[in-house]
Amino acid sequence: MGNEEKMAKMEVKTSLLDNMIGVGDMVLLEPLNEDSFINNLKKRFDHSEVYTYIGSVVISINPYRSLPIYTPEKVEEYRNRNFYELSPHIFALSDEAYRSLRDQDKDQCILITGESGAGKTEASKLVMSYVAAVCGKGAEVNQVKEQLLQSNPVLEAFGNAKTVRNDNSSRFGKYMDIEFDFKGDPLGGVISNYLLEKSRVVKQPRGERNFHIFYQILSGASEDFLCKLKLERDFSRYNYLGLDSAKVNGVDDAANFRTVRNAMQIVGFMDHETQSVFEVVAAVLKLGNIEFKPESRVNGLDESKIKDKNELKEICELTGIDQSVLERAFSFRTVEAKQEKVSTTLNVAQAYYARDALAKNLYSRLFSWLVTRINESIKAQTKVRKKVMGVLDIYGFEIFEDNSFEQFIINYCNEKLQQIFIELTLKEEQEEYIREGIEWTHIEYFNNAIICDLIENNQTGILAMLDEECLRPGTVTDDTFLEKLNQVCATHQHFESRMSKCSRFLNDTSLPHSCFRIQHYAGKVMYQVEGFVDKNNDLLYRDLSQAMWKANHSLIKALFPEGNPAKINLKRPPTAGSQFKASVATLMKNLQTKNPNYIRCIKPNDKKAAHVFNDALVCHQIRYLGLLENVRVRRAGYAFRQAYEPCLERYKMLCKQTWPHWRGPARAGVEVLFNELEIPEEEFSFGRSKIFIRNPRTLFKLEDLRKQRLEDLATLIEKIYRGWKCRTHFLLMKKSQIVIASWYRRYAQQKKYQKIKSSAIIVQSYIRGWKARKLLRELKHQKRCNEAATVIAAYWHGTQVRREYRKFFRANAGRKIYEFTLQRLMQKYFLEMKNKMPSLSPIDKNWPARPYLFLDSTHKELKRIFHLWRCKKYRDQFTDQQKLIYEEKLEASELFKDKKALYPASVGQPFQGAYLEISKNPKYKKLKDAVDEKIIIAEVVNKINRANGKATSRIFLLTKNNVLLADQKSGNIKSEVPLGDVTKVSMSSQNDGFFAVHLKEGSGAAGKGDFLLSSDHLIEMATKLYRTTLSQTKQKLNIEISDEFLVQFRQDKVCVKFIQGSQKNGNIPTCKRKNNRLLEVAVP
Ligand SMILES: Nc1ncnc2c1ncn2[C@@H]1O[C@H](COP(=O)(O)OP(=O)(O)OP(=O)(O)O)[C@@H](O)[C@H]1O
Ligand SMILES: [Mg+2]
Repeated sequence: MGNEEKMAKMEVKTSLLDNMIGVGDMVLLEPLNEDSFINNLKKRFDHSEVYTYIGSVVISINPYRSLPIYTPEKVEEYRNRNFYELSPHIFALSDEAYRSLRDQDKDQCILITGESGAGKTEASKLVMSYVAAVCGKGAEVNQVKEQLLQSNPVLEAFGNAKTVRNDNSSRFGKYMDIEFDFKGDPLGGVISNYLLEKSRVVKQPRGERNFHIFYQILSGASEDFLCKLKLERDFSRYNYLGLDSAKVNGVDDAANFRTVRNAMQIVGFMDHETQSVFEVVAAVLKLGNIEFKPESRVNGLDESKIKDKNELKEICELTGIDQSVLERAFSFRTVEAKQEKVSTTLNVAQAYYARDALAKNLYSRLFSWLVTRINESIKAQTKVRKKVMGVLDIYGFEIFEDNSFEQFIINYCNEKLQQIFIELTLKEEQEEYIREGIEWTHIEYFNNAIICDLIENNQTGILAMLDEECLRPGTVTDDTFLEKLNQVCATHQHFESRMSKCSRFLNDTSLPHSCFRIQHYAGKVMYQVEGFVDKNNDLLYRDLSQAMWKANHSLIKALFPEGNPAKINLKRPPTAGSQFKASVATLMKNLQTKNPNYIRCIKPNDKKAAHVFNDALVCHQIRYLGLLENVRVRRAGYAFRQAYEPCLERYKMLCKQTWPHWRGPARAGVEVLFNELEIPEEEFSFGRSKIFIRNPRTLFKLEDLRKQRLEDLATLIEKIYRGWKCRTHFLLMKKSQIVIASWYRRYAQQKKYQKIKSSAIIVQSYIRGWKARKLLRELKHQKRCNEAATVIAAYWHGTQVRREYRKFFRANAGRKIYEFTLQRLMQKYFLEMKNKMPSLSPIDKNWPARPYLFLDSTHKELKRIFHLWRCKKYRDQFTDQQKLIYEEKLEASELFKDKKALYPASVGQPFQGAYLEISKNPKYKKLKDAVDEKIIIAEVVNKINRANGKATSRIFLLTKNNVLLADQKSGNIKSEVPLGDVTKVSMSSQNDGFFAVHLKEGSGAAGKGDFLLSSDHLIEMATKLYRTTLSQTKQKLNIEISDEFLVQFRQDKVCVKFIQGSQKNGNIPTCKRKNNRLLEVAVP
C-alpha cells in the first residue's frame, strides 16, 4: 500500500455513528413512529444523505440530481469495509454482497423495489458499476465488465420510455445474473427480460412518449442513414409518436443515439445486425402511417383498403416483404379450422387492429431478440462452477389514471416481490426468534399473500379467469370477463367492483362500471377492463406472421418462426398472462436460492424535482413498503445474531479465559466472554444456537475492542517473533563460533602432528632403506640362483616334455591328418573297388575308372595284379592234361603268332594229337606193333611229290624219338627219321598247311631228301615236333617261316615258292613243279 493510500485510509474515520445526521440506521431511531421515521428521512434527505439503513436493508431516496457520492474515491472508501463502519451507502451494500459472494461462496441477489421513478434502475447501475470497480482487473476481465455495463444503454433505449412518473421508466422487467469465478473475477452474465409494455408502441397515454429509440433514431441518425431507412427527421410525420411530449427536458436524444450505437458495438453487434435492428425499428414506425379506408363490396359489407400505398411500398422495400402479400394480409384474414381454410375480409377497424398488432409484435419480438443477442455476447465462456450475483430491476408499482392489463401485470409482479421480501425478512426473522427460543413480542405486519392468491390462484385467480375467458368458445368480450370476475371474486377482501353481485360497492361512484379495483399492498388500483382479453390473447393474424416469415430479411424472418407454413401449429400459444405468471414463478424460485440484499427505493416527490420532499407521498410509500414494521421487527428483536462458534472464534481474544483456547461448549464460552466484557444484560440474549445482540452499537463496541486487541496481539506476536528471531540468530552465531574454533584447533593439531609424523617417517625410512637394501642384495642373489636353476630345469623339462609331447603337437597334425585322410581314402577306394570288381574272366577288359589322380599308378598296378591273379586263378583250375594242352598252345603262340597267317585259326582248335586211332583200328595193327613208343601225333598228311608236286596221303606219326611216315592204306612204314636228324621245319607265312621237314645231311633218312608235307593241323604238328625235339635232344628245332625256302631233293635243291591269289582250285592250295629248281604253291 502506498503512503498516500495509507493516509487516505487513516483520514476516513467516519462511522455510522460519527457525524450522524438524524440516525443512519432506523433501528437506532428514538422514538419510533411514522412521523419520526419520515422526519429522519427528510432531515437526512435535506442534507443530501439519500441512503438510510434498516438493519441491512438500504432505503434509497431519489435525489433527482447528481450527487458527488459515486466517485472512484468513494468506491475506494467503501471497499472492503464493514457494513456498519461508514455512513449508509448503496456501495456498502454492494461491497457486503460482493465480499460474501467472493469469500463465503454464497450466491447473492440484489432486490431493488420501489415505485416507478423511485430510482431502481439507477440503483442497479450503481451496484453494477461498484462491483465492476472492485472486482478483478485485466484485459479480458475488463472486456467482460465493459460488455456487461454497456448492455444497459442498449436495453434502456429499446425498453425504456418517458412516462408521467419517470422520464426514463423501464417498460420491461429485467433480471441480470452476473457470474464470477472463484477469485471473484466476472466471467459474464445472463439477462432475463419480463413482459415489455408493447401497447406503448402504438399508443401512449397523454404526456408520455413511445420508446426512446424512435426519438433517438430520428434525432441522432445522419441524413444518410435516415434516407437509407426511408425515415424523415420530423416526429410529427409519424402517427405512432405522441406529439405532446416528444421532447424531454434534459434528455439529448441525438447524443443518446450515438451512445446506443457505440454500446451496441462494444457489446458485439455486427454492423449488419445493427442495420437490421434499425430497419425493423423504422418499419414499425412506418407501419403506424398506413391508413385504411372502407370500400363497399357487393355483399353490402365494407372492406378495408389501404389509403396511400406509398408507405406500404417503402416498408416492403425496407424489409424485403412482397408488397402484395402484406397488402392482402391487411385486407383478408384466413382462418383455418379442421383442414379448411376460410378467408374473410377485414373491415377498417380490423385492419387497424391487425396493423397495430403487427407493429407491437414486431417491436416486442425485436426486443426479446436483442436480449438474446446480448446474452450471446456476455455469456460466460467457461464451464467452471460460477458464483452468481443477481440484480433485479423490475418496473415499479404503478398507479395511473387509466390502468390496464400492463399495470395489472406490473403490479402483480411487485406483489410477488413484496411477498418474497416478507418471507425472507419479516417472517423469517420472527420465525428464527421462535426457533431460537428468544422471547418475542409479535409485530403485526400485512402479509400480501392473499393478494397474490387473488391474482394467481390456479382456479379462482384473476389470471386464471382471464385465460378461461380467452379460451372459451362463443363471444368473449372484456365485459364477459368482468362478469366472470364479479361472480368468482365478489367476496374477496381485496377485490372491488360495481357490478359485483355482492352489493358492497354499488354506491361507490368513484368506481366506473367497466372497472374493477384491487387493493394492492401498495394501494388501491382501479383497472379498466377494456383490452384485457385482447392483450392477454396477444393475437396476431396468421396471414401477417406468414407474410413476415416470407420477408427477405433474415432478422424479421427469425422473429416470426411460427409464420413458417411447414411448422403450422393450430394450438393456441400460451396467453401473455400465463407466460408472465410462469416466468415470475421461476424468478421467485431463483431468488429464494440466493442470499437477498434489499434496496428499497423511495420517490420523494411526483415532480421529478430535486430538493422536494413530499411528506404525504413518502409516508404512503413507507406504509406500503412496510418499512416501519421492518424497523420494529429489527428492534423488537436484535440487530445482530451469530452462531456461537463463529462468535466465540471472532471475539475470544477479548477475554483471558477464552484466549487462546476455550475447551467447553461455545455457548458457555460466549457467556464467559460477555460477562467479562461487562456488556449490559439487556443488550444481548442467548438463543439455542445463536447469540442475539440487540443493538448494533454493542456490536461496534465488540468490533472496536477486537480491533484494539488484535493490534495488541499483533504487537505481541511481533515481539515474540523478534525475540525468537534474535535468539535464533544468536544461537546460530554461537554455534558457528564453536564450529570455527573447533575447526581451527583441529587444523593446528593436524599441522603439528603431520610435522612429527613426517620426521619420524624420514628417520624410519633411512633405516628401513638400509635394511631393505641389504635384504635386497641377498634376495637378489638368491633370486638369481633360483632363476638359474629354474632356467636350467625349465629347459630340461622343456626338452623332455617337447620330446614326449611332440607327437601330440600340432606340427605333426598335418601329416597325421594327411595320413589319416589318405588311409581313409585308400580304405574307401579299396572298399569301393571291392564292390566294383570286374568278373574273374581273364579276357574281361573292364576295369573301374580311377577315382583319384594320385592313385593313377596304384590303379594301374592293381589292375595288373588283379589280372595276373585272376589268370593264375584261372590256371589253377586246369588239370595236368589241360595244362599240357595249354603249354602246347602257348608254345604255338610263341612260335607262330604274328608270323604265320594260319595260326589264328588254330587257336580255337584243341590239339588232339592222335587223330588216327591206331591202336583201335585193326588195319594199323602192324603199324602199331612196329612202333612201341608212345605216339604223340597220329595223323593223315599229304606228302607232296617232289617230282610233280602231287600229293599222296600218308600217316604221319610222331613218337618220343622219331618221326614216322606210313602208308595210309597198308600202314607200312615208309620212312622213319629220329628226331635228332630233323634240323629244320620250314613253312610259308600264309594260310596254307604246307611244311617242309629238313633232315640232317648225311643221315640215314636223308637219302631221299627232305619231306614236303601238307596238313590241316600244321600248327599243332609243328609245335609238338618242336617240343618233342626239345625234350629229347635238348635242342631248339629251327622253324623257318618264309614264302620261299629250299628243300633238298636227293641232290637237288628245289625252291618252294608260295604265290598268293590263285583261285583255280577253290580254297585248296595247289602245288606245281615249275622246273628243276622251283616248286610253286598257289595259296588262295
Ligand atoms: N441516485 C440517483 N442520483 C441522481 N439521480 C437519480 C438517482 N436515482 C434516480 N435518479 C433520477 O431518477 C430518475 C428515475 O430513476 P429510475 O429510472 O432509476 O427509476 P425506476 O425506479 O427505475 O423507475 P421505473 O420503475 O419507471 O423504471 C432517473 O432518470 C434519474 O434522473
Ligand atoms: Mg427503471
